[in-house]
Amino acid sequence: MRRIVVLCSGQGTNLQALIDAEHSKVLSSGKIVKVVSDRPDAYALVRASCAGIETEIVSRKGHRRETFERLLAGAIGKPELIILAGFLPILSPSFVKLYPQMIINIHPSLIPSFCGKGYYGLNVHKAVLAAGVKVTGATVHFVNEVPDGGKIILQKAVEVKEGDTPEILQKRVMEQAEWELLPRAAELICRGMK
Ligand code: GRF
Repeated sequence: MRRIVVLCSGQGTNLQALIDAEHSKVLSSGKIVKVVSDRPDAYALVRASCAGIETEIVSRKGHRRETFERLLAGAIGKPELIILAGFLPILSPSFVKLYPQMIINIHPSLIPSFCGKGYYGLNVHKAVLAAGVKVTGATVHFVNEVPDGGKIILQKAVEVKEGDTPEILQKRVMEQAEWELLPRAAELICRGMK
């Protein structure tokens, strides 16, 4: 059983999908041993506690990046897989190099479209609607030194519909792609298949 640490900053719906996947055995080769958040008010922490998972807060505020990342590495310990599930701080190249092929991220678009600096949260879906594309989706990828630039593990397309708002599109991408892809990707990696 691979030890998984999940990093979150917000609602934690992707964390919830991972917790549910453990219960339903979609994720059976890995176990979430800890959830770390950079924000004390992240609802993800409540979800983790309800599931009996250890939590820790490492605040970004008031620390230089090197200090923050040293504290973060201490909180993470020595897991076999690190999952960024809505974790907002961008990790430095030197931090990422500590965990080669061991960090994965979920991004709410079909990379290489609508990704990189500034593309997070609702901004991604606003840009998708502004571009007028008819298909978007989600991507799970390994994290390397380039933001959203690591090897792609899984992707799923989602239709953009007439009259979509960024909020409606975000919800559809989560429901139809993100919550399914992330647990599947975690299982593939834990089984050594990626
Ligand atoms: C998701 O859209 C994810 O793709 C992105 O941040 C959002 C996090 O949502 N990286 P949640 O905290 O998992 O609900």
